[in-house]
Amino acid sequence: MKEKKAIEVGAAEDFTVGQFRIVDVAGRQVGITRLKTGELRAVRNHCPHKGAPVCRGTIGGTWPPCEPGEMKYEREGEVLVCPWHGFEFDLITGVELYQSEPTKLLMYPVAEHDGRVLVTL
Ligand code: FES
Repeated sequence: MKEKKAIEVGAAEDFTVGQFRIVDVAGRQVGITRLKTGELRAVRNHCPHKGAPVCRGTIGGTWPPCEPGEMKYEREGEVLVCPWHGFEFDLITGVELYQSEPTKLLMYPVAEHDGRVLVTL
């Protein structure tokens, strides 16, 4: 079996909270962002719905279903909204929110080492 190799994609300070930086990793477009907790997320730039460049969407929160007359906004910085049809994805788990048969973002292991960011495909 072929061993997976971590690929360096840049300096840790170049990956900021609330926005994606899209990099080429061995021919694949991968969006990398940092959560408010400081953790990194690496996401293939391909929406599982219809193939949009999902990492060009917006990162924010979500308005979950609630009772009539009630509104609540939550999970700021943990939800990615696809730019084509507005589907929302949980950046913690990659799972699509509010769909009866949710799909999932393809996410890669990502880590920091000596001030550099490394992605494993
Ligand atoms: S292509 Fe992403 S929601 Fe449709």
